[in-house]
Amino acid sequence: MSKLVHAQWSSKMTFVLAAAGSAVGLGNIWRFSYMVGDNGGAAFVLVYLACVAVVGLPVLVAEWLIGRRGQKNPINAMAELAGKNAQPKAWALVGASGVLAAFLILSFYSVIGGWSLSYTLGSVTGTFTGQDADGVGAIFEGLLGNPLLLLLWHTAFMALVVWIVARGVVKGLEGAVRTMMPALVVLMVVLVGYGMTTGHFGEALAFMFRPDWGALSGDVVLAAMGQAFFTLSLGMGIMMAYGSYLGEDVNLLGTARTVIILDTGIALLAGLAIFPIVFANGLSAGEGPGLIFVTLPLAFGNMTGGMLLGLMFFLLLTFAALTSAISLLEPVVEFVEERTPLTRVMATLVSAVAVWLLGIAALMSFNVWPEPVMFGLNVFDLLDTFTSKILLPLTGLGAIVFVAWCLDRRSVAAELNLTGGSEQVWLVVARYVAPLGVILVFVNSLLG
Ligand code: PHE
Repeated sequence: MSKLVHAQWSSKMTFVLAAAGSAVGLGNIWRFSYMVGDNGGAAFVLVYLACVAVVGLPVLVAEWLIGRRGQKNPINAMAELAGKNAQPKAWALVGASGVLAAFLILSFYSVIGGWSLSYTLGSVTGTFTGQDADGVGAIFEGLLGNPLLLLLWHTAFMALVVWIVARGVVKGLEGAVRTMMPALVVLMVVLVGYGMTTGHFGEALAFMFRPDWGALSGDVVLAAMGQAFFTLSLGMGIMMAYGSYLGEDVNLLGTARTVIILDTGIALLAGLAIFPIVFANGLSAGEGPGLIFVTLPLAFGNMTGGMLLGLMFFLLLTFAALTSAISLLEPVVEFVEERTPLTRVMATLVSAVAVWLLGIAALMSFNVWPEPVMFGLNVFDLLDTFTSKILLPLTGLGAIVFVAWCLDRRSVAAELNLTGGSEQVWLVVARYVAPLGVILVFVNSLLG
């Protein structure tokens, strides 16, 4: 009996850890902070929070629900559920666009994962000790300007991902997530504490939470929505795939709330750690993708015990990036494995090499190939923009519309433990508010 209870608890816990492992990653720290900086601060943050609550939560629940019912990979799960509910098979496209998004995202994600690896090593060797803003900036420029070095780190990161997936130690990582995630939170709090000593914490608070609504544009809103999807690993079938491991007894809404609070909390802490350093050193908040790499080393290089803290921070960040990257590789491998005669190991290798090649094009954007290739964007920005602002929201829209409109209303309410008033709220949000929100954001940004 006790064994049974424990087994259940551990599978539930495993699920939460796996979902949190995918959600918490570079998106919370690297991407969130640079998006906030690039998009004018508080107005972006508040729209982002609204998107997480109003769109992110229902889409997350919808993806898990589809996965749990479909019990298959995202494409087949969508196809089968559509068939069962007398809907066109074309719904499978929702799963397919997710696989494409995962492939594209992993390519540039691995490049940034490489930066994080490189900074882990830099912390060990004391590269940042005593550096000022110019010194730290020069170190970062040195990394970006060296395509071979970037290639090396990108390759090292992808190799780690493949090694973990191929050795089948993904399960073992869940134990690590359980200790590393809290450690990351503690370190972020320490960094926020450091931010408070800079004398510019109030400025950072105002930047993040006192909105200048004039800074708001259609594009800022779209960026905020894209960030909500990206950081929660939505719109890619990943959460659907995780849902297929879910027991009937898991409370989807409650679990979604836990994952979202953790994910959002880490992002906000990252902002509160980074912006005081930006203002204290006269740096620009709109620094772009390099933001955390030219700010945090300043803190580590100038505080007591900073070398150790820096090492721990970049190690934990790399670890968080790895658990997210593994979840990104999985749908691609699954797809290749199912559509070709390749074995699991070969499918993993082939997928990884394809991702790695595209990553090379992405990393060249920072040095030898900065020119725009389409819509005025270079390869890196194009990959990031096309996935987060278009593919993810569209796929997520498909998931929520499918659950809210195509599945039997009663059974969905029962599955979510909703009755009476709460069922009405769910219906209004899932049927109208969330889908219309996504559509309006699109239309609004198209109109400029
Ligand atoms: N959510 C992850 C992060 O914030 C990135 C990711 C996106 C992972 C999409 C899986 C799918 O870093």
